[in-house]
Amino acid sequence: MNDTRKAVLDALDDGPVTGPDLAAQLDVSRAAVWKHVEALREDGFEIDSGDDGYRLESVPEFGGPAVEYGLDAPFDVEYHESVPSTNVVARELADDGASDVAVLADEQTGGKGRLDREWTSPSGGVWLSVVLRPDLPPARVPMLTLAAAVAATDAAREAGVDAEIKWPNDVLVGDRKLVGILTEMEGEADRVSWVIPGIGVNANIPADELPEGAVSLQTEVGPVERRLFVQRLLERLDELRSDPDAILDAWRERSATLGQEVRVETPEGIVEGVAKDVDLPGTLLVETDDGVERIHAGDCEHL
Ligand code: BTN
Repeated sequence: MNDTRKAVLDALDDGPVTGPDLAAQLDVSRAAVWKHVEALREDGFEIDSGDDGYRLESVPEFGGPAVEYGLDAPFDVEYHESVPSTNVVARELADDGASDVAVLADEQTGGKGRLDREWTSPSGGVWLSVVLRPDLPPARVPMLTLAAAVAATDAAREAGVDAEIKWPNDVLVGDRKLVGILTEMEGEADRVSWVIPGIGVNANIPADELPEGAVSLQTEVGPVERRLFVQRLLERLDELRSDPDAILDAWRERSATLGQEVRVETPEGIVEGVAKDVDLPGTLLVETDDGVERIHAGDCEHL
């Protein structure tokens, strides 16, 4: 967004301002003020003109200008209308040395899920990948996935949706999936170079565009302001990312899995029992007939 348009929005932030006052404040002509206001309206900003001047009524819920102007996040956010996969874009940024950057898109044409599955990503979603450079050994990285799950759950709850986490990192409403997370990383044996949690939130997506077994924020509470949802999610991720104990406590509190009978498909075979606890970096403790099993990875089903 150009600087004058940003200055117009900033000037309107505290209430209405007349055209002549705006022109004087910004040191441009009244015709130029009018032109910038028109351009902002075309970008979706609702600006009324009344007796007391121009008044900013609302910011668009999503999109490039909304993210640039109305998203105050602890990460730089790069917005795209449509990309094959935000994880792929984020990877390219990471390879170029970026850090603490979030890639956000309205639509993905080649969204990637866990275990080489496809991830349906129509327009209306929150498809988000965050480039992090934590000072961690690779074995500790799963805790960042737990943090991302907590952050997405909290943002969903603040939007009025009763979300819970299924181990390791699916966010569910009842038994239907609202959010999936695919974390990718690169590094050496003792230290990661970068980690990218890729977070897919079925946000403003109608029921007939969702895959089977999925739910969206829209189907639960109606369309949400995705800009504010993303802001909350990124704020929470930032608060948690270097605090393992807080991540674990928050994950336990939001868990749908703990206390449940589960069946987990692990690379070593099936484990069935009662999910007792989760331990760092994201290990599930399942009480079976043969004692407590510690599960590091797998597909978990609640029985
Ligand atoms: C899963 O299978 O549950 C994980 C889905 C992860 C989807 C997100 S959407 C944003 C990011 N970009 C991708 O291509 N995948 C992740």
